[in-house]
Amino acid sequence: MKKICVIGAGYVGLTTGTCFADLGNLVTIVDIDERKVENLRQGILPIYEPGLEEIVRRNAQSGRLRFTTSYAEGVRDAEFVFIAVGTPSGTEGEADLRYVRQAAEAIAEVMDHPIIIVNKSTVPIGTGDWVADIVNKHKKNDVPFAVVSNPEFLREGSAVYDFMNPDRVVLGSLNREAAEQVAQLYLSLRAPIVITDLRTAEMIKYASNAFLANRISFINEIASICEALGADVKEVAAGMGYDKRIGSAFLDAGIGFGGSCFPKDVKALAHMAAIHGCHPQLLRAVLEINRDQRRRLVQKLRDILGSLDEQVIGVLGLAFKPNTDDMREAPAVEIIHLLQNEGAIIRAYDPVAMNNAKAMLDGVTFCENAYEVAQGADALVICTEWNEFKHLDLKWIKEAMRRPIIVDGRNIYDPETMRQLGFLYRGVGRGYGV
Ligand code: UDX
Ligand code: UDX
Repeated sequence: MKKICVIGAGYVGLTTGTCFADLGNLVTIVDIDERKVENLRQGILPIYEPGLEEIVRRNAQSGRLRFTTSYAEGVRDAEFVFIAVGTPSGTEGEADLRYVRQAAEAIAEVMDHPIIIVNKSTVPIGTGDWVADIVNKHKKNDVPFAVVSNPEFLREGSAVYDFMNPDRVVLGSLNREAAEQVAQLYLSLRAPIVITDLRTAEMIKYASNAFLANRISFINEIASICEALGADVKEVAAGMGYDKRIGSAFLDAGIGFGGSCFPKDVKALAHMAAIHGCHPQLLRAVLEINRDQRRRLVQKLRDILGSLDEQVIGVLGLAFKPNTDDMREAPAVEIIHLLQNEGAIIRAYDPVAMNNAKAMLDGVTFCENAYEVAQGADALVICTEWNEFKHLDLKWIKEAMRRPIIVDGRNIYDPETMRQLGFLYRGVGRGYGV
């Protein structure tokens, strides 16, 4: 049993801390947000993440998981202090490191025994060294410490599973012994462990996310070509995926990637590349294609409906992907704004992200369910592939709509079935004339 402190109770911090507690360690999670900490103490989570609440409760009850706003309390006995604060995009696409700086300063001020500081947040290459400088500058007691980069690869919606079943654990440090000590925390997960230097570990995270984003933009570009030439991208992706060198994951064409990582990380990597004299053409194209996917969906509506002024458009799904209430960089938000700019009237529904969406969207009628959205709509748009949308009573929906038009941004329906049901249906990259 190790004593671990985690700074930040967001997706990464809360999952990391809770899972480490579940593996038998003693964990204190520190967050500066008093309300969040108070709620967590009562078992109320700040995020929707399947399975997490139950594990938080179980470990809190057993005394292995505690929450506090006090850095002193969190760091007091800890052997490992994980930094898992947000690193949002700054105005130029660069990662904004103010929260990492605050965390490093606060740790330095209360640190009174040797610790290993582990960086979980996705941070620009070189941040590990910078954190070490900050801690050296601000530390009140002359105690040794090491900095290890340990990027997190978990996905929202399957965060607990991903933490417990990592494809690999990446650890980077100038201090190999410290990296090996952190490796001990993960031994029971039986994953390959990659130990390298700080900057390489930081780069592995960016390169991995950029590569996955690249796959999505690649298949979206292929989808556009499929539309022009009459091929079906779903079958193209399936056919490609059997090639072991390619693999089938992350080849779903759609309205592009959103969320708190891919858009931000690709931008940050492109920015880092640019200011160091590289010319990140591919990364820029990945972002451009991603932006265009949203516009292409709106163009499809225009092609069918003509002017969008006063047209009632029903939007099914708002979260950036299913099984999360996260609205950060959700394609639905941009699509709704584009539609509203052209005078469309928006009705929308999401199974869990509606509260978060309400704070970001004006002038939208939020409905109780998909059927209510469909009432009187001139067209329906699928923005998130929630399972419940895959099994709707489409006959009922068709009767309820003013016009039976569905533009499916996530390819959840079969074009032929939709045609037979009498819909004018457009997916992404599924040829025309279907
Ligand atoms: C991602 C990474 O997968 C994870 O390793 C990292 O730690 C954080 O960023 P996440 O943002 O939670 O995880 O979601 P992910 O499932 O990767 O999806 C990201 C976006 O890509 C979503 O908007 C999703 O809809 C989109 N996507 C994904 C596609 O459009 N097509 C695909 O084939 C896969
Ligand atoms: C250039 C343009 O900047 C870009 O907008 C256009 O799409 C293609 O041509 P590039 O040749 O890669 O791209 O220029 P670069 O010098 O890399 O500038 C890109 C970004 O880096 C800008 O935001 C710029 O402000 C920033 N930058 C560049 C810095 O912040 N510091 C520098 O020293 C150099």
